[in-house]
Amino acid sequence: MQVSSPFRSATASAQVHIALADRSYPIVIGSGLLGHASTYQHVPHASTALIVSNTTVAPLYAVQLQNALQARYPKVLLLELPDGEAHKDWPTLQRIFDALLGNGCDRKTVLFALGGGVVGDMTGFAAASYMRGVPFVQVPTTLLAQVDSSVGGKTAINHPLGKNMIGSFYQPQLVVCDLDALKTLPKRELSAGLAEIIKYGPIADMAFFDWIETYIDALMASEPAALAQAIQRSCEIKAHVVGQDEREQGLRAILNFGHTFGHAIESGLGYGHWLHGEGVGCGMVMAVHLSQRLGLVDSAFVERLTRLIERAGLPVKGPVLDERDNAGRYLDLMQIDKKSEAGEIRFVLIDGPGKAVVRPAPAALVREVLDTCCA
Ligand code: NAD
Ligand code: GLY
Repeated sequence: MQVSSPFRSATASAQVHIALADRSYPIVIGSGLLGHASTYQHVPHASTALIVSNTTVAPLYAVQLQNALQARYPKVLLLELPDGEAHKDWPTLQRIFDALLGNGCDRKTVLFALGGGVVGDMTGFAAASYMRGVPFVQVPTTLLAQVDSSVGGKTAINHPLGKNMIGSFYQPQLVVCDLDALKTLPKRELSAGLAEIIKYGPIADMAFFDWIETYIDALMASEPAALAQAIQRSCEIKAHVVGQDEREQGLRAILNFGHTFGHAIESGLGYGHWLHGEGVGCGMVMAVHLSQRLGLVDSAFVERLTRLIERAGLPVKGPVLDERDNAGRYLDLMQIDKKSEAGEIRFVLIDGPGKAVVRPAPAALVREVLDTCCA
């Protein structure tokens, strides 16, 4: 007997549209996309394309992309940056400008970000600033970048005092999510991407949350059809939110569920010790505990979310950042957050499953949560 797959076919490509008037663009999702010239047929023409990648991803995928782009751009350049969150900084960004100016790139030059969120955020920021703005394309190669960072136009570098503190909103021309690129992704990075997928459930879509719970083992096994469906739904939710609030004047902040605590973990430990997705996963556990203490969700939901995050291979206990006053250290770090207003930390909380709210919380309650949630 033939058992039919519960997933849509992974071989057929899907498209999600980001509707932002003259800054609208498609996200294409499928197999074998990044090495095909036709994938880029609507990207502007120019004499030069610059692929920005890193020392890990370039050896895996740069030749495929170069070959695809050569049909369209007379000159295709490649820049390999050092790998890692610790390099999402000014000196590394400067290397992109050095390459652009050193090669005589003009304001029509198209940048292609080939890599995870670090490469994507830095390339986007370079594209936003070079000659006051040149076109760029996101070719995300991590699960996290395919479901979140490549979509929506947030670009940034880190500052030692705070994550993603220097950047701009700048939309790409196209996002290319090639499922084949995920085949080389380390397991730990897969889990990091699952954190951002899980995030979309509690803030916006509990039916999707149920679906993730049902198919978490298939996702953990990198089943292409399951990944394709999760990527598509994640991009649809993100597109819907960004379409209503591109520059985070309100609603878009819900996409930062788990990030206030998570960013404190990342910067408190030093960038690169915990992966961004690990910080977000654990941060969601902390944020849902805080939601419960404020009477917004019950303990059953706290347990349900914690269990799913655990099944995704993510940490659910936060690190101790200061032996003497751990909660105080987290609170200090969380103050440097783009959602803070007049020095007051604002948290993304779950206001009943499927709905998020952004609001401050009493420091005493936050301390209780941190005492419970840090090992
Ligand atoms: P990353 O870019 O550091 O990539 C993770 C690791 O996987 C790196 O070592 C990378 O070289 C490697 N890698 C990438 N693709 C690979 C592949 N196909 N095969 C093998 N190895 C591969 O991390 P990330 O998780 O992709 O992104 C995290 C970053 O994204 C953080 O800086 C975070 O702040 C940012 N972010 C931005 C947004 C946004 O809206 N702009 C949203 C979420 C996260
Ligand atoms: N990752 C959060 C956002 O794009 O707004």
